[in-house]
Amino acid sequence: MAIGTRRLILVALSVNVLFIVFMAVQQHKYISDSSFSVSGRQVEQQHQKEPASHSPESVRQRVTVIIRDFESFDNAVVETIRELYTVLNGTKVIIVGDTVPYPPLQVDKKWDVEIVSLNPNLMHNYSSSRPVHMIKTKHVLVLPDTAKVKHWKHLQTAIIALGSKGRFRAVAIGVGTEQLKCMSMDVDLKRWQMTLGLANDSSDHCDMWTGDQALFMLTEDFHSLAEPFARPFAQAFYIQAKLRQWRVRYFKRYQMARVKDLYSEPHNKWKHKRLEEERLSSFYKHWGIKAVVHSDGKTDYYGCTKTTPRCFGTIIDDMPEYLYEGKWTPPCCLKALRETTRHVFSILEKEKVRYWLEGGSLLGAARNEDIILWDYDVDVGIYREDIEKSPHLKDAKVGSYVDEEGFVWEKATEGEFFRVQYSEDNHLHVDLHPFYSKDGTMTKDTWFKTHRQDTEFPERFLKPLTKISFVGIMASAPNNVREFLEFKFGKGVIEQSRFPNFKRVQ
Ligand SMILES: *[C@@H]1O[C@H](CO)[C@@H](O)[C@H](O)[C@H]1NC(C)=O
Ligand SMILES: *[C@@H]1O[C@H](CO)[C@@H](O)[C@H](O)[C@H]1NC(C)=O
Ligand SMILES: *[C@@H]1O[C@H](CO)[C@@H](O)[C@H](O)[C@H]1NC(C)=O
Repeated sequence: MAIGTRRLILVALSVNVLFIVFMAVQQHKYISDSSFSVSGRQVEQQHQKEPASHSPESVRQRVTVIIRDFESFDNAVVETIRELYTVLNGTKVIIVGDTVPYPPLQVDKKWDVEIVSLNPNLMHNYSSSRPVHMIKTKHVLVLPDTAKVKHWKHLQTAIIALGSKGRFRAVAIGVGTEQLKCMSMDVDLKRWQMTLGLANDSSDHCDMWTGDQALFMLTEDFHSLAEPFARPFAQAFYIQAKLRQWRVRYFKRYQMARVKDLYSEPHNKWKHKRLEEERLSSFYKHWGIKAVVHSDGKTDYYGCTKTTPRCFGTIIDDMPEYLYEGKWTPPCCLKALRETTRHVFSILEKEKVRYWLEGGSLLGAARNEDIILWDYDVDVGIYREDIEKSPHLKDAKVGSYVDEEGFVWEKATEGEFFRVQYSEDNHLHVDLHPFYSKDGTMTKDTWFKTHRQDTEFPERFLKPLTKISFVGIMASAPNNVREFLEFKFGKGVIEQSRFPNFKRVQ
């Protein structure tokens, strides 16, 4: 290698080193959050693209503020913007309401503020009620009502943090005196379920920061949310972020102040709380989260109840609609089915009706002592001759009736069998199929073409009946469960778990 070339490389190297040192110093200036780090190269890119990024003006040009979380009946939106303008005068603000806020917000005409209603107006075009199209800046700051940005440099730091794309997709800044709390979150859309847990703050692995907060992110990320304007904003955002495997950085030291305290009137406080719960519940329902398991182990259900219809439609080809969406039976339905099953079994036992788990229900019991996660009813066989012993079944034979606990007993319209429904409104059900013995073979009068397991079988499986653990109780079952199931479904059925018509969903 020629001396000249070597010298050139040395010079190039020294320039590089000097540059890195320079960048490190620059970086240090903006970033006072000590645990925060970005590599010199990333900062360099930021600076080359946007040379004057260290002034309030440059921050103003990069950020659109969105105010979504406020109540029209009690808010400080105007004061919030006034305070924002003392730090970042002229920043574009979009106030997003479900409807046009009433009473109207007294926004200063000189401010760059737009008020958008998500409720479409027939006189306006499609984009008018979709404010994502109005964001022209690279970043958005979603600011809750009353939050006060303390210094423009805090946003500057957030811009740099998000510039090093990949690690963090949003920055959270707490509002008020309380620090945000770290939670773990698991969202399982297949099971319609979300599980929350308290997590370790210092571990840096928070799926959700809880508490009043502002969220700062790239506009392109904001645009990629399924529902960017859902409320309460933070909760809805963290669920969507989790499903996208985004991480959110909490800027602990930049806590925002409050412009003023809201809801001093108890009635307003109550109203706000109730509305927040309604919003969250409608977000869950809309996006298919029907059970939320809290960190204390309690579960809230957001699905069907005794007074609502079953949450899926008529079943065609033994394949409920949710299977086509890659989902399993909603947890509230499984819960209702378990409840109905326990109720029915206790009555059959009291009335001395010999019964046994059939088909998919027995399969579920053999696999994991429960209803199969995508099954939608419970099937039971009974001895036809025992019907006369049971007041419940005898009554059901002559007409549908509601028992003392609200379950509906009836003779099915589809054939010679009984159906017990969860309630008059909710038609989740347990089916009771009467069999009789004919020369040692158990047979019946109604068969289901779509159920290949619906066949005759030797009576020896019922002599004697045995017990198997199912939905939290000991239920009656054929003896030799494995042999019985393999007789009906084929060999190895307990081990290979498949949807009924699994080929249709592949
Ligand atoms: C803020 O900006 C407006 C115009 O955008 C200007 O009229 C006003 O004087 C500015 N206020 C301050 C305090 O800079
Ligand atoms: C929709 O309406 C807004 C406001 O009236 C207007 O600025 C925008 O250009 C319109 N968009 C289209 C696609 O017509
Ligand atoms: C949190 O994590 C840190 C380090 O990972 C550990 O030292 C600390 O004991 C943990 N705290 C709790 C409450 O688990």
